[in-house]
Amino acid sequence: MSKTVLLVVSLSLMSPASEALDNGLALKPTMGWLHWERFMCNTDCDTDPDNCISERLYMQMADVMVKEGWKEAGYEYVCIDDCWPSLQRDARGRLQADPKRFPGGIKKLADYVHSKGLKLGIYADVGEKTCAGYPGSLGHYETDAQTFADWDVDLLKFDGCNLKWTLLGEGYINMSKALNRTGRSILYSCEWPLYEWPFQKPNYTAIRETCNHWRNFDDVFDSWSSVKSILDWTASHQDTVVPSAGPGGWNDPDMLVIGNFGLSHDQQESQMALWAIMAAPLLMSNDLRDICPRSKQLLQNKRIIEISQDPLGRQGYRTAKGNSFEVWERPLSKKRLAVAVLNKQEIGGPRGFAISDVPGWKYCDPQCNVTLILPQYKEMGVQAKESKLILYVNPSGTALLTVTPISKHRPHWKKTSAKHDQIIL
Ligand SMILES: *[C@@H]1O[C@H](CO)[C@@H](O)[C@H](O)[C@H]1NC(C)=O
Ligand SMILES: *[C@@H]1O[C@H](CO)[C@@H](O)[C@H](O)[C@H]1NC(C)=O
Ligand SMILES: *[C@@H]1O[C@H](CO)[C@@H](O)[C@H](O)[C@H]1NC(C)=O
Ligand SMILES: *[C@@H]1O[C@H](CO)[C@@H](O)[C@H](O)[C@H]1NC(C)=O
Repeated sequence: MSKTVLLVVSLSLMSPASEALDNGLALKPTMGWLHWERFMCNTDCDTDPDNCISERLYMQMADVMVKEGWKEAGYEYVCIDDCWPSLQRDARGRLQADPKRFPGGIKKLADYVHSKGLKLGIYADVGEKTCAGYPGSLGHYETDAQTFADWDVDLLKFDGCNLKWTLLGEGYINMSKALNRTGRSILYSCEWPLYEWPFQKPNYTAIRETCNHWRNFDDVFDSWSSVKSILDWTASHQDTVVPSAGPGGWNDPDMLVIGNFGLSHDQQESQMALWAIMAAPLLMSNDLRDICPRSKQLLQNKRIIEISQDPLGRQGYRTAKGNSFEVWERPLSKKRLAVAVLNKQEIGGPRGFAISDVPGWKYCDPQCNVTLILPQYKEMGVQAKESKLILYVNPSGTALLTVTPISKHRPHWKKTSAKHDQIIL
């Protein structure tokens, strides 16, 4: 293994995030399920009753989330996206669910979801119409916030279509205030920066004061190129976006598409690992009624979820790049570090990466305890600063590990023996 040529990034990201929206929510990245990527705007319940946007879909998802260990793993919010409402507001100007697809109405659905110990999310739009052309909330923020509170909704995803960009800030702020005035704690998921970036650099201090998480970049698709484009965007804007994340407010790189059609298993592991490193909301968009066991195991991996939900609440970022590898690191509580080594070369076989090339390896002076989490759990034991450990990473796969520094003057821990020098993953 020749010494990898790496561009090492050092960021002045150490300042604590500014004031978060004070609604007591999203103290850790939100976990749950959101319909959009997998089910989109399928309203055809006559020919496709199992996959159309209807109350049945969310009830079935809630059932599975309880039965199949999702709730226990931490996934809590069952979230509706676009295409749920009727095309007309009711006589009193309130949004109403499509009566054919939601015969019980949203309040009943919320009651059902709550009876399972889960929470319900809904969707609306800051502009005149939603992205799919349903009624928008512009001019109705107070009414809509109150309607969602009356229905006992727990989360609002507020999209940014069909509004003049100069009004985005006031629109999102007005809705945030309207939600607060209802007196109900409703987690507020925004797309303000995504819609503002084409025109100017968003004010992340204001966004953090207004929202619990915020989308910065394009919708995720069920493909590796989409996941890669999100990672590239995030790394290239990390000086701007990373400092704004912390308890109460998070950058949202969009849904987990694990368990669908487009990602290989290695790529699914990469998405899971990097979303945990980015302190991203873990909102799955897949069909939990029919998901392959390996994807399920990955999504429910306790050790990855622990990194995602780490109480320090700091977002990780890309710290090195070169030779078709990327290293991403996230500082964790108890002075630990999570490290993801992503092999971006999409040809050939597993490639070796010298662990001492990880910028955070300085944690290992004089020694550290290394635990590999992906691609499989393995305790690597105590390593020294001069460790010769090589990680072998599959094409478009990721090795995820945690590093715990061991302070000096603890002679009873032995240094790594030579047999650990080459680890084949
Ligand atoms: C509304 O905002 C105030 C002040 O920021 C905060 O103390 C209160 O908890 C908020 N209420 C809700 C329901 O979010
Ligand atoms: C936000 O609220 C302010 C104060 O009520 C109002 O003047 C403004 O028009 C509102 N903006 C939007 C986009 O609703
Ligand atoms: C960004 O928003 C914050 C909080 O609302 C405000 O104090 C600050 O002046 C804004 N910064 C800019 C450059 O507009
Ligand atoms: C290293 O970490 C593993 C996994 O957390 C733990 O079981 C082990 O006791 C640790 N070893 C040392 C020497 O701290």
